Amino acid sequence: MTIRESSEATGVGAFAAGPDRECLRCPRLAAFRAKQRTAFPEWHNAPVPSFGPLTARLVIVGLAPGLRGANRTGRPFTGDYAGDLLYATLAEYGFSRGTFDARPDDGLALIDARITNAVHCAPPENKPTPAEIKTCRDAYLAQRIPAMPKLRAIVMLGRISHESTLRALGHKLSAAPFGHGAAHDVGGLRLFDSYHCSRYNTNTGVLTTAMFRDVFANVRAYLDGSCDLAAAPAVTSADTK
Ligand code: URA
Repeated sequence: MTIRESSEATGVGAFAAGPDRECLRCPRLAAFRAKQRTAFPEWHNAPVPSFGPLTARLVIVGLAPGLRGANRTGRPFTGDYAGDLLYATLAEYGFSRGTFDARPDDGLALIDARITNAVHCAPPENKPTPAEIKTCRDAYLAQRIPAMPKLRAIVMLGRISHESTLRALGHKLSAAPFGHGAAHDVGGLRLFDSYHCSRYNTNTGVLTTAMFRDVFANVRAYLDGSCDLAAAPAVTSADTK
């Protein structure tokens, strides 16, 4: 196995940075990547590094790179619908500077925010297996979160991200049941749940733009010191997407 850790141009140490381009920890994902490299040699086709400063107070944890989005462009949530909604919302709440143009060289910079994924490589049918989620968590996510010295808040996009983030932090899932719009104070961090901003969820009305904006309005208020947990929306037991 060739696993050479890179510094991801952020100065962060091995494993906190993310997988090397040739990471072989998940054989199915490595085989899928090889297939995409043959079919689309001009694409990124490699683990997608996190984006944004390590000194940010907020990290957003997505699921996995979209095949024709982040896997093509090399930047999380860049090049597909989910990213259009995420980056527009980040801009609205002051977490970015510059104009998002769905290209990694569009000059966009994140302010006080970083984006990462529970799984670094694009999975077939956008569905990582439980073993792949665990492998990527143990090797990377669990190292990346503590590598953010000023971290105060995490937005978890979807149930898989929610569960993997909790486990990466060493907490039981029962410590914070998933629910869109819920906020949990766990281990000195405030965790915000959202349904994933995928096209499927927005097309089916599971997630509206207004619902997504509300999550980031709560994050903004929290980081600005103008809200407390008691004011955050309560968890509802039916919220499971
Ligand atoms: N792109 C990403 O990088 N992650 C997601 O979860 C979805 C799209």
